[in-house]
Amino acid sequence: MKQTKYSAIVIGSGIAGLYSALKIEQQLNLPDGVLLVTKSKLGESNSYYAQGGMVAVLKDNKNDSVESHISDTIKAGAGLSELETIKFISENSDKVVKDLLTFGVEFDRDENGNFTLTKEAAHSVNRILHSGGDATGRQMEIALCNAVKNNPGITIYENTTAIDLLVKDNNCHGVILYINNEYQAVYSHTVILATGGLGQLYKYTTNPIGATGDGFAIAYRAGAVLQDMEFVQFHPTALAFDDEKNHNRFLISEAVRGEGAKLCDKNGYEYMINYHPLKELAPRDIVARANFCQMRDNKVPNVFLNATVIGKEKLLKRFPTISEKCLEKGIDISKDLIPVAPAAHYFMGGIKTNIKGETSINGLYAVGEVSSTGLHGGNRLASNSLLECVVCAYEVAQYLKNKDLSRISNNNFDESLSKYDTQTQPISSDTNKIKKELQNIMWENVGIFRNGKNLQIADDKVQNFLHLFENKYKLATKEEYELKNMLTTANLIIKSALKRKESRGSHYRTDYPEIGNISEHSLIIQNKGEINFVK
Ligand code: FAD
Ligand code: SIN
Repeated sequence: MKQTKYSAIVIGSGIAGLYSALKIEQQLNLPDGVLLVTKSKLGESNSYYAQGGMVAVLKDNKNDSVESHISDTIKAGAGLSELETIKFISENSDKVVKDLLTFGVEFDRDENGNFTLTKEAAHSVNRILHSGGDATGRQMEIALCNAVKNNPGITIYENTTAIDLLVKDNNCHGVILYINNEYQAVYSHTVILATGGLGQLYKYTTNPIGATGDGFAIAYRAGAVLQDMEFVQFHPTALAFDDEKNHNRFLISEAVRGEGAKLCDKNGYEYMINYHPLKELAPRDIVARANFCQMRDNKVPNVFLNATVIGKEKLLKRFPTISEKCLEKGIDISKDLIPVAPAAHYFMGGIKTNIKGETSINGLYAVGEVSSTGLHGGNRLASNSLLECVVCAYEVAQYLKNKDLSRISNNNFDESLSKYDTQTQPISSDTNKIKKELQNIMWENVGIFRNGKNLQIADDKVQNFLHLFENKYKLATKEEYELKNMLTTANLIIKSALKRKESRGSHYRTDYPEIGNISEHSLIIQNKGEINFVK
């Protein structure tokens, strides 16, 4: 197997990965350079599709304050958001926005050159930066990808899948990569996982095809502590059509509701008043459950969003991507109701880190959606994710400034690497069929509403599939590696959901509908192949 080394390895080219690589490269002591690995083409990620925007508590926004952002985030987080983390991220948002501008990132401004700020659900003031109207992620990704490509200190491996970490005695020494049927061991004492989320575990999701939860599974196998794995966020308003290319559903941003759009049934009845006083702008979990109930009770495949009140001119200016996408489906959003339905969107749980991205394994860091910093708690406040990505990417690089990233020697991993020299057969003749079955199992049993019986059904089925991978290290295709990671991650979600016998934030159990008295994170770690809950 080919073996190389780098001063730092960043895995993932979403906003967290790109910005981490750029900030780390700005440090002084990088004799072996930075390697950026990404499993499809550079920039393909959840980040690319982010619409609504990024929270920023700007110093010159007199209507806003860190205290107000903290208060909104805590309210949404259902008792599991951590004050110090929110405070840190909020306080650093202004500085990081200014730094992003130096890498070519831009946000929409008014005619006086001031940023235009919008509002989304459960925010008490307008504090969300956006770009290209409703193409915030795409604009940020394009700028950061260009900066990375133009940076000679960063080596890029595209179409390269990280499959496992090289860990000994709780120290991370590097990663094993899979590139077109070949393997490469890359050594480094600084490995940053920025592999994003897991929406593809579900039948309906806003996440593109690559969001298969690899980072959670990789970290779990390596022995890292993971946190709050039961907390999947479902977005209330995905366009109710399946996208063939990305195997997902296009998002109709919450910002459309922020600008005044109303949810209704096919007769135009605006039902949100029956669910929450904040109606369309109630926290995301409440709106997603409301839409789900409306669909279930009326036996219909979708509800509707009425954006006509916003007016054609504003719709085209603020939501050009959404307007165009809907028009492709024959829907003129200035005149027609938009068919929408909930879909898996974001993952609040993840690899437990502190604000510097440190995990429980030395030398392993996690940034972005794959991490669980304590910001989001049981329910993420809209547009806090991109902010977390950039503040934590900035911070991990700051922290590494004081670390010695100098040349490293290979530890002896011959035994681990020899597993990849063996011949291998496909685990199934139809990986895609198992993947689809898993997505159905997760949607039906581990979705917006859960209960012990259904979680147990899901558990039994997932265990059966997991047996196919028992003691198999080398697999036949990238899709098999992804499927193994999806099953591993599904197992962690199901076990955590079974353990949490209450309803909190996005985790709603019909057999335990009340919130418990004590708000506690759930922490898990792998021990001899078994899931252990850490008290
Ligand atoms: P990602 O952007 O998902 O990037 C992960 C990267 O890792 C990808 O490049 C992927 O290919 C790579 N990767 C994964 N596994 C491997 C592997 N094994 N080996 C190599 N590479 C790998 N949040 C907001 O704050 N505001 C919004 O407006 C907003 N809108 C959204 C709209 C949509 C449609 C979606 C899906 C999400 C939205 N979110 C939004 C959430 C937000 O976009 C994500 O949480 C955030 O972009 C995650 O960034 P990331 O860099 O952590 O991960
Ligand atoms: C949206 O635009 O509705 C998504 C915002 C988010 O997920 O934070």
